[in-house]
Amino acid sequence: MIDEAKTRRLYDRIADVHNVALKVNRYRHSVTKYLRSLNLDLGPDPLVLDAGSGTGIQTLGLASAGLNLKRAIALDISPKSLHVAREQFRKDRVLEARKIDVIQGDILEFPFGDNTFDLALTCGALEYVPLDKGLEEIARVLKPGGKLVLIPVKPSVVGTVLEVLYKFKTHKVDDVKRIALRHFNIVGNHTFPPIEPMGWSKRIFLLEKKIKP
Ligand SMILES: C[S@@+](CC[C@H](N)C(=O)[O-])C[C@H]1O[C@@H](n2cnc3c(N)ncnc32)[C@H](O)[C@@H]1O
Repeated sequence: MIDEAKTRRLYDRIADVHNVALKVNRYRHSVTKYLRSLNLDLGPDPLVLDAGSGTGIQTLGLASAGLNLKRAIALDISPKSLHVAREQFRKDRVLEARKIDVIQGDILEFPFGDNTFDLALTCGALEYVPLDKGLEEIARVLKPGGKLVLIPVKPSVVGTVLEVLYKFKTHKVDDVKRIALRHFNIVGNHTFPPIEPMGWSKRIFLLEKKIKP
């Protein structure tokens, strides 16, 4: 397993640069476009978790997509990344920063009760943990029928470069599907067009937590 303290130190060092790279690549735009295209029927006042939020790009994308949030939580192990996230939330013109809580924590041990969230997003973070444990923990805190926007790094040349730079391990697409099915139904499977930089390294699965009898 990847050393959590090392990962935290890495992201504390590179948070600013990582954030600039995301802006140059217009990640927020890609995520917003994708989220808008979904018919996310979340009901009134949804509670949202951005798991492994880094500098907050997915939460910002969610706000731009016009989702009416009751509260969102951006959780990450890197305090510096969360500091950058907080600043971005504060300055953003679309997002209401007072609705976002920024919490330092571990995606394998959320400080939340079972069945808490209506929606979770996670992008490029489960690559640092065993996939089965990561998905199990997200499933635990989602309400039955709750949605997970899972944005894994796809195995590719760019993915290999990112593995070296960011010191993580890409999960095989078949493993993602197989393990996801333990807790979720796969209701969407999206690949970004190559003109979007996000498509060079990522794909998206929309998952729905199974309702167990
Ligand atoms: C590639 S970055 C992605 C950040 C963000 N989701 C995005 O799309 O820009 C991976 C993030 O996962 C976080 N991370 C890695 N392991 C973690 C863990 N065990 N618990 C919480 N966050 C973790 C890192 O600190 C980093 O911010």
